Amino acid sequence: ESSKAQQLIALHEKASEVYHHMLVHTTAGQEALDYLLKRGLTEELIEEFQIGFAPNQRAFLERIFQNESLDAKYFAESGLFVERDDGLADRFYQRIMFPIRNFQGKTIGFSGRWLQTEAFPGENQPKYLNSPETSLFNKREVLFNFDKARSTIRKEGSVFLFEGFMDVLAAWQSGIQNGIASMGTSLTNQQIAAIERVSKELILCYDGDNAGIEATNRGIELLQEHSHLNLTIVSVPERLDPDEYVRKYGSEAFYELAYHGRETVFSFKMNYRKQHRNLANEKEQLEYVQELLQDLLQVDSLLEQDRYLTQLSTEFQISRETLQQQLRQFKQARRN
Ligand code: UTP
Ligand code: MN
Ligand code: MN
Ligand code: MN
Ligand code: MN
Repeated sequence: ESSKAQQLIALHEKASEVYHHMLVHTTAGQEALDYLLKRGLTEELIEEFQIGFAPNQRAFLERIFQNESLDAKYFAESGLFVERDDGLADRFYQRIMFPIRNFQGKTIGFSGRWLQTEAFPGENQPKYLNSPETSLFNKREVLFNFDKARSTIRKEGSVFLFEGFMDVLAAWQSGIQNGIASMGTSLTNQQIAAIERVSKELILCYDGDNAGIEATNRGIELLQEHSHLNLTIVSVPERLDPDEYVRKYGSEAFYELAYHGRETVFSFKMNYRKQHRNLANEKEQLEYVQELLQDLLQVDSLLEQDRYLTQLSTEFQISRETLQQQLRQFKQARRN
């Protein structure tokens, strides 16, 4: 007799197997497979991550579970179905399925990407649909790909944090196997703690669009407040996300960007604050410099501090002495 947790995992492992089979070996999955291959995924990668397809039927998985004579006791609790007046219906349909595994590598949930086709435009469908919270699947704890990435994270002493599943996959294909993603929300304290247990360094590599830039700024604040992780930023140009960048410029170019195109947090802040200000206006210029001096208080390295003071001094024609004095004042104000 197995525990409830084991049974729920067994249902997910079975579902994962079935969805994967649908994608790779059936005509119902052909369109989804073509879509993924056209997006640049390889068959090896689809295999490695057990990507699948949930066909456009509401009683597909349920029927398979019944045929396999699985114990129906935990069907409703598994999150794989939604409850209706007349019984259960599949939660996921017409979606490309990403299995979500816990830190031990067991599948505990899914995220499904809507596959848009002429027959199923899906206007009101969310792009990604996640499993609901269950006794096993806790979105605040889980990190996509953490189980596979962990050994590389330990070896390299660093972890890449991406926004999306497709970004983790594109990075993996580019030789970056220490990439993870949270489930479409900002990081939680539990996730940060789990990362800190295996890594000293975190590279934030979110989408290059406005939403991604704002998320990067929030992520920095969160990580600085709740961790001692050494942070660097990769800003993907042209508003692309990492996956789009790989498709446009290739794996080698992305690898190059990820390893040699890293910015310090302060350099990110300089650009970020610039975008939110009109520096032709003198008042805004001074406010900008003041904000950056506050940011500079967060910089531990004296060498780095010194370099940025020089840079600000040159750019805004303010003497280094004055900048340094102001910095000292801010430091004292913060202490008091
Ligand atoms: P994006 O909108 O950037 O999607 O959301 P994406 O990862 O680039 O996906 P593709 O390339 O269009 O297929 C980033 C992440 O936010 C979460 C998902 O984890 C997604 O990968 N998300 C997004 C959701 O959970 N629900 C949504 O409806 C959209
Ligand atoms: Mn297979
Ligand atoms: Mn995005
Ligand atoms: Mn994206
Ligand atoms: Mn994308």
